[in-house]
Amino acid sequence: MPVRIRPFRKEDTKPVLELANKYAAFDGVTTEADLAVTAHFRQGFWVAEDRGKVVGFVYGYFRDVPGEVLDRWESNKVGQVELMSVHPGYRRSGVGRSLLTRLLREFKKAGADLAILNCPAVASEAKALYDDLGFDVRAYQMKKRL
Ligand SMILES: CC(C)(COP(=O)(O)OP(=O)(O)OC[C@H]1O[C@@H](n2cnc3c(N)ncnc32)[C@H](O)[C@@H]1OP(=O)(O)O)[C@@H](O)C(=O)NCCC(=O)NCCS
Repeated sequence: MPVRIRPFRKEDTKPVLELANKYAAFDGVTTEADLAVTAHFRQGFWVAEDRGKVVGFVYGYFRDVPGEVLDRWESNKVGQVELMSVHPGYRRSGVGRSLLTRLLREFKKAGADLAILNCPAVASEAKALYDDLGFDVRAYQMKKRL
């Protein structure tokens, strides 16, 4: 049976946090409290399931962007892709693409005309996926050791 994309359920919390913290903890640990933001937009949280096992997820929400910034961005409503992760055993078979396109579709259905995300420079697979889906670079986050 192929991997199926379905809405997040409460009982997915543990495997989602495992996938987040094992493979996508670039800027720190994800906790259950971090997932609370998804309560405001239930269609923004998707999991990939294979035979009852959660093997990937993505979640996002609507950013509260001030009006003058929306004007500058020429946007009416902005969806933030917050985090995604796919189990290494399931990569390069379209799971990440299916998860992200689903989230983007739901953003659009709910009125968003812009999606934004942050991608650490070390997450080269994710960067390749975002490039492939047509995301442009809009900022550089830089560091220098002192
Ligand atoms: C990023 C991630 C979610 C991608 O998941 P995935 O299921 O492997 O992605 P897909 O198979 O749907 O790939 C879709 C496209 O993305 C690009 N891509 C994905 N992984 C790639 C890789 N290792 N090298 C080059 N291109 C890649 C390709 O264009 C690919 O299309 P193709 O397979 O037809 O060439 C997964 O690699 C992951 O969990 N990485 C660690 C966590 C992470 O970086 N999260 C994002 C934080 S910003």
